Amino acid sequence: MTEGKRVVLGVTGGIAAYKAAELTRALVKKGVSVKVIMTGHAKEFISPLTFQVLSGNPVFSDMFSQEHYDMNHISLAEYGDVMVVAPATANIIGKMATGIADDLLSTVLLAAKAPIIVCPAMNDNMYTHGVVQENIARLKKHGVQFVAPGYGELACKTEGVGRLADIDDIVEAIESAWTDKDLRGERILITAGPTREPFDPVRFITNYSSGKMGYALATMAGRRGAEVILISGPSSLPVPRGITFISVASALEMRDAVMTHLEGTTAIIKAAAVADYRPAVLSESKIKKKKGPLTLHLERNPDIIAEIGAKKENRVLVGFAMESEDLVENARAKLLGKNMDLIVANDLHQSGAGFQYDTNIIKILDPQGGVEEVPLMDKMDIANRILDRVKILTNAKRS
Ligand code: CTP
Repeated sequence: MTEGKRVVLGVTGGIAAYKAAELTRALVKKGVSVKVIMTGHAKEFISPLTFQVLSGNPVFSDMFSQEHYDMNHISLAEYGDVMVVAPATANIIGKMATGIADDLLSTVLLAAKAPIIVCPAMNDNMYTHGVVQENIARLKKHGVQFVAPGYGELACKTEGVGRLADIDDIVEAIESAWTDKDLRGERILITAGPTREPFDPVRFITNYSSGKMGYALATMAGRRGAEVILISGPSSLPVPRGITFISVASALEMRDAVMTHLEGTTAIIKAAAVADYRPAVLSESKIKKKKGPLTLHLERNPDIIAEIGAKKENRVLVGFAMESEDLVENARAKLLGKNMDLIVANDLHQSGAGFQYDTNIIKILDPQGGVEEVPLMDKMDIANRILDRVKILTNAKRS
């Protein structure tokens, strides 16, 4: 996905220039090759050596350098799968908006055909100035993407909008920019994480689900252009960017949220580990310990996926099965019994697969008897394999 991708990073002269070093590091860590172009003013804030060491590549700033004569503005413009300017001053935004090319960075940006992402960072009066906003609007009309600055304390000791966006937001925008939008037009509802079934104000029954698989699906579906609704039980994971996020706790809450958002969806992927049972009684006060054992009576939770399966209409329905024995047989019984289009089965006994891991090993079963074996891979890549199958099915249902 990101491995082998190439970014040209333009750094301009602002106090946030040091954060571009963090961005370079984050991209390199993901296997991205980064070539940095610094403006003359940027070099007042941070040394080119920092970027050279972090990127492992020479740093460019001189238009007419003899040293890198082979890396002129055209070859740098062609190098990047994505061009990024972070931080972007009002000056570079103004130059880009008016087609001025008077140094290496502005020239490369004008010559580039790859997507351009601009991440402004400046004083809030400058950022909200009508001219800067008009320049931004004009660039947007020409297809330039912006990662808007955040609100907070600024270097000039004022508070306002103008802080460089979070590095994670910028990385997400970059990864999204080079992802083919093949799921555009799909509205995909995804459930993730565990549910919590309380029996008094401080205690509950739950499971070890981390939410990683569902969040990976939501991230990838969003990057591929789908409109995503993620309904999640409690999870410590960061909420994927650019999606609709609904936080729930219990299976009953999850059911209500799913049913409320069902309308208009083209696919539903139920990656959540929903508790099958909940305590029959929810005590209003904390249950005090007594001599002898405590018996909790449990009652069945609604089977959400079975309910959707019963009124599936034209939607694609994907479920998950986590089994400790007879993986394929048990998964197939769930697939057919609950009217799913696909079921993603994983074996609890395989190392590297399941709840807390960043990786998974799965089998994708279909009602026709097909079994696609997907070997150990990152949950992000697994998510793409599942979404590829979803895409084939949504297209087939449409035609
Ligand atoms: N599921 C659901 N509602 C429930 C329980 C499960 O929607 N109350 C969904 C899960 O999100 C998953 C699929 O059903 O996509 C299978 O979950 P699993 O717990 O493996 O299957 P169960 O049918 O509950 O069977 P068992 O627990 O007996 O293995």
